[in-house]
Amino acid sequence: MAVFTLTLNPAIDQTVMLDRLIPGEVHRARSMRLDAGGKGINTASCLADWGVPSTVMGLLGSENVAPFDALFAAKSIVDRCQRHAGSTRVNLKLVDAHGTTDINMEGTAVAPAGVDAVIATLDAQVQAGDLVILSGSLPPGCPPDIYARLIVMLRGRGAIVLLDSSGPALRHALDGAVLPNIVKPNLHELAEWHGSPIDAPHQIIEVATGLLDRGVDLIAVSMGAQGALFLTRSELLRAGLRAHNVESTVGAGDAMVAGLAAALIEEAGLDRIARLSTAFAVGKLGCAGPHLPARDRIEALAASVETEILMGEKQ
Ligand SMILES: Nc1ncnc2c1ncn2[C@@H]1O[C@H](COP(=O)(O)OP(=O)(O)OP(=O)(O)O)[C@@H](O)[C@H]1O
Ligand SMILES: [Mg+2]
Repeated sequence: MAVFTLTLNPAIDQTVMLDRLIPGEVHRARSMRLDAGGKGINTASCLADWGVPSTVMGLLGSENVAPFDALFAAKSIVDRCQRHAGSTRVNLKLVDAHGTTDINMEGTAVAPAGVDAVIATLDAQVQAGDLVILSGSLPPGCPPDIYARLIVMLRGRGAIVLLDSSGPALRHALDGAVLPNIVKPNLHELAEWHGSPIDAPHQIIEVATGLLDRGVDLIAVSMGAQGALFLTRSELLRAGLRAHNVESTVGAGDAMVAGLAAALIEEAGLDRIARLSTAFAVGKLGCAGPHLPARDRIEALAASVETEILMGEKQ
């Protein structure tokens, strides 16, 4: 099972450390770092730490591509991203003793030819039985139904599709005739798609059951510190683990998606799927970027994940 991740709207995180942020003042930066980001790229980075090779696809601006090239080289991630003439958007993070101030830039509008080239690359590379992870939001200029179209194309050839998106891209994909095999919304994304707030577990189960009835095989609804619910047509599990060391919650969902992928490669049952994806997510919380601790640490976390069977057989 080859693994591909698609990131149409990547970003570079530029983190600037300051003593104290004062609006209107001139500051001297303590330090600065650039990190390649974007949800599918984060997922590929976590998979590489676990020892699973993957191929990244999507769109990168050639003007500031160096952090991506460095990450792909360091982790032996196969790079099939299209380059376009502009730059990848930069998300500025100003960190001082009071916390982090985020300034997110709008992405460069993509040209139809760039999107077509990405579709052609997927078409040429993905075979029956491969896993394709469609991750994140869409850049300006990208057709909002692109995931829906890709799901038809990829499932039509027998690939397994995992979707982790939000807003209009998620809505188009879940309203389509052919649904992804696996979906990983967080509570907010699920509620936004559903069109009303979701507070109680029975509401999550109701909404997720609607998707399972329409052809989704597995739904993982992540709930931040509250853990996640894992649902199939015959089983329902809640899983979570207290995090003792939280460096950064950014990308916890992307790590959880990597854990789902790792468990699928093992052909695992739902208990192991829930344990491994929770261990990936909680393991990542202890790292500043999209990285995992060593394998034995992840296995120890997986063993200590608390699971509760809400429906179905004990594995
Ligand atoms: N503070 C926390 N304590 C314990 N576990 C956490 C915490 N935050 C996240 N997790 C774990 O990570 C999983 C994914 O987190 P979350 O629901 O925040 O994903 P997300 O909103 O998709 O994140 P992102 O899109 O930023 O990567 C949760 O289901 C949970 O297992
Ligand atoms: Mg997410």
